Amino acid sequence: MEEPIASLIEIGYSALEISGRFKTMPPPGLVSLSSNDYLGLSRNPLVIDASLRATRNFGTGATGSRYLSGNHPLNRELSDATSQFKTGGKGAALVFTSGYHANLATVSLISELSPLIFSDSENHASLIDGMRNAKGRKVVYPHNESEFIREYLKKNPQQKPVIVTESLFSMKGDLAPLSALFEIVEEYDGMLVIDEAHATGTTGISGRGALEALGLPYVPERMILTGTYSKALGSLGGFVILHEKAAKILESTARTLIYTTALPPGVLAASLEAIHVLAENTEIVRSLQRESRIWNAYIQDDTESSSPIIPVMGDAPTLQSVSDNFRTQGYYLPVITYPTVPRGEDLLRLSVNIGWDKNVRKTLETFLPPRKGVQK
Ligand SMILES: Cc1ncc(COP(=O)(O)O)c(C=O)c1O
Repeated sequence: MEEPIASLIEIGYSALEISGRFKTMPPPGLVSLSSNDYLGLSRNPLVIDASLRATRNFGTGATGSRYLSGNHPLNRELSDATSQFKTGGKGAALVFTSGYHANLATVSLISELSPLIFSDSENHASLIDGMRNAKGRKVVYPHNESEFIREYLKKNPQQKPVIVTESLFSMKGDLAPLSALFEIVEEYDGMLVIDEAHATGTTGISGRGALEALGLPYVPERMILTGTYSKALGSLGGFVILHEKAAKILESTARTLIYTTALPPGVLAASLEAIHVLAENTEIVRSLQRESRIWNAYIQDDTESSSPIIPVMGDAPTLQSVSDNFRTQGYYLPVITYPTVPRGEDLLRLSVNIGWDKNVRKTLETFLPPRKGVQK
């Protein structure tokens, strides 16, 4: 006889409990030290005013999908501004309700089109989920090892491979070897999908992202950029920047664009203003990079990196006790565990914020010993 559904829930519950994979949300009121609001733009007065004005003028909700009643003109303004900011207008941008939706749609489409897709082993869940329905072969390559892809293609020659990677990795804050990956897609007539979720606003001299940092041009025929307004831009929503015709295909087929309600005007206006603030004031990016350099040197003994994402490595119990120490002082710095990071690579994900005051700095120095992580 088949199990009744209530027993299946019991079994699922127990399995999760035994594997220690229950997730707990933090209580409200703690100050997060893992926030993605690197530039503090979610509290920027210009961004807040723009959002309030749009809400007063146009209402709180989008009222429908962009294909029904939700296609507010701010969508167009935002995609144009995004394309301009990220690629000097070279690519066509599409706005989605979240970065997750944007990645899911982009990687699903490209996976359907390509016979072979490579994905970095530390890619974000939204990129992984996009590959689930891939028709061709899927190869997960060791983190940042472009040579692995080269060797694979030498042994299994295949034109039109797609390589999917984050640019600034969300958990370890390291950069993908984009120049080497780009060379591969040039050589094999492939396509490089770059998730700029964390690089936008933080990376490159003016925060335009990893291409700017590495001095690489945006090439619409070979690159698709994805990203989000929810991190350094302090708002909500995702974007994809790609070749104009590919954008038309995505716009006509992406289920996460067609079958969901569009972003509300207040959110679109906030994202748009955040881009303006950033475009007009590169000093805030530099200030973030200065602060990040200090903490990379302090925590990792890395005097080169200006990444605002700094992993604090260590064994799980020690990390937990450091995390608990922060909590006693009102700060939240959780231990990130599998499957968000690979097994055995638990870490505290410290993200630098330009709004940090001397209390935060002092607490960090108290609980994070310099240079060596938190090994016992
Ligand atoms: C690398 C990466 N890509 C995509 C996303 C999804 O972005 P959003 O939060 O806008 O859905 C995230 C956020 O968690 C991320 O870290």
